[in-house]
Amino acid sequence: MRRALSPLVCLGVAAVCARLCVAEAARHTQLLRFSWKNCGPPDSPAVLKILTISPDPIVMPGDLTVEAAGRTSVMLRSMLRVNLTLEKEVAGFWVKVPCLDEIGSCVYPDVCQLLNMVVPPGQDCPEPLHTYGLPCHCPFKAGDYSLPKSDFYLPNVDLPNWLTNGNYRAQVFLSNQQKDVGCLKVSFSLQTI
Ligand SMILES: *[C@@H]1O[C@H](CO)[C@@H](O)[C@H](O)[C@H]1NC(C)=O
Repeated sequence: MRRALSPLVCLGVAAVCARLCVAEAARHTQLLRFSWKNCGPPDSPAVLKILTISPDPIVMPGDLTVEAAGRTSVMLRSMLRVNLTLEKEVAGFWVKVPCLDEIGSCVYPDVCQLLNMVVPPGQDCPEPLHTYGLPCHCPFKAGDYSLPKSDFYLPNVDLPNWLTNGNYRAQVFLSNQQKDVGCLKVSFSLQTI
């Protein structure tokens, strides 16, 4: 004979369920008011021309649409160095976020090497790069690169807990074999809901 679940057990299960759902929702992070601009000299070899990210806010986990275009007048190859400075607004002041576990204000001595770690050489570039014939390894030939509007799914990224709610801005310096090639400034806000 099957035993009916007691109403108390049902209530208990419902309560645990509701709690889990709330906990899940609480971890959703929103990225709002993303903006960017080039910050190199007018004759900067590498510039971004388009970078459109929607929707605003971007909810993680969730869908995101990206359109991007840029150009480089020089070939970009190994020792492609990135110096990223990340700042957070604290009580009206911009405070530098330190580099922790490769996130924050970090210097990456060679992005070419990082790319080789993410996508082993010889393997197809991940979508949608592959579809549009965009490269994901050094060297990047001089020329124009563009990514038509593409949809991505952002999984729930476990952001470090020091990367808390607030306004952020970042400056990215790109240099290749000791020569400055580009500079990009971005700003955004993070909010966990
Ligand atoms: C990176 O850029 C920042 C901001 O311009 C600068 O203060 C810092 O010295 C640079 N770091 C390195 C290692 O080049």
